[in-house]
Amino acid sequence: MITKVLDVSSEPINIDFIREASRILQKGGLVAFPTETVYGLGGDATDKEASRKIYQAKGRPSDNPLIVHIAKFQQLEAIAKDLPENAKKLADAFWPGPLTMVVNKNEVIPYETTGGLDTVAVRMPSHPVALALIEESGCMIAAPSANTSGRPSPTKADHVYEDLQGKIDCILDGGAVDIGLESTIVDLTEDVVTILRPGYINMEMLEKVVGQVKIDPGIVYNDKGTTSGAKPKAPGMRYKHYAPKGDLTIVKGQEANVISAINEMTARDMAAGKKVGIIATATTKDKYKEGNILVIGDRLDEKSIAHNLYDILRQFDELDVDIIYSESFATPNMGQAIMNRLLKAAGQKTIAV
Ligand code: TXA
Ligand code: MG
Repeated sequence: MITKVLDVSSEPINIDFIREASRILQKGGLVAFPTETVYGLGGDATDKEASRKIYQAKGRPSDNPLIVHIAKFQQLEAIAKDLPENAKKLADAFWPGPLTMVVNKNEVIPYETTGGLDTVAVRMPSHPVALALIEESGCMIAAPSANTSGRPSPTKADHVYEDLQGKIDCILDGGAVDIGLESTIVDLTEDVVTILRPGYINMEMLEKVVGQVKIDPGIVYNDKGTTSGAKPKAPGMRYKHYAPKGDLTIVKGQEANVISAINEMTARDMAAGKKVGIIATATTKDKYKEGNILVIGDRLDEKSIAHNLYDILRQFDELDVDIIYSESFATPNMGQAIMNRLLKAAGQKTIAV
């Protein structure tokens, strides 16, 4: 199959390209498209075959459910079995935007889309290309992140092309995405709203809207970097994910200590013939002596760190480094989401200095 790339990165959006992509979805094909978080790999959410094709293209385990993307609140009402009051409140506060809600499903969305679960994850993205595609196609779009399973989520159309070229019908290229980390997922099927995956919409923002909010104990790590023992409720959070090819270690501690520890380890590894990558920030980059140093962003601008994380991990894959050392980014608002992804990429490997 030849994957067609259509450029929708300039305003006004090229409606002919949106129509072309819409026809592919209506015929059961797959279209990758930009959202404000990461690129999604879309198919008609009500079409079992389309969902099967998504799993196949990504090499994704079929018990890991897809997120259904909608453009109107009524579409949530149409696929939910019972809609908790909090769904309306959260939609008013955060939709369209980077929040996914898990609710009980009715029969409209097939089990092929929900990985066999009786619940469905739903999100209304804010990216104009995503909204135009949902509206023009008339489809609710099932879309996981548009990466090969186990690779970092794509934040640029090039990343999608790298992973899925020849396996999907079309890529809508809307340029680099805004946020760069996947949406916050909340479970609304229990009494207390529960965060299943941290993201740009953080706990405080949610609490202001619905009162008490819990974090799924399965995604909480202790100081040693191990889990509490509970299994994450979102199936996708159970897999090793976002893994770069190089062996990634996060180094925590005071800045000066972190820098000297990374310099020492890098010298040792390079002497042993290894290729080393370092994830640095704008202010620390000049303090590293050797290795492949990439700047993730500015520590005072946490959005820049989120925005560049996956691209940096992919760059290290291309550089073919054996070992990667990263500073730690427990920043105030998005820190939990950033560290959640970084720790997963590192397989929880952390050194405190
Ligand atoms: O920002 C995003 O959410 C992006 C863009 C494309 O919208 N999508 C995304 O999809 O990150 P994906 O498939 O990579 O991650 C979906 C996550 C997985 O961890 C999956 O297990 C979880 O959502 N999930 C989906 N349906 C669920 C359900 N019914 N119950 C619990 N977790 C669910
Ligand atoms: Mg994903």
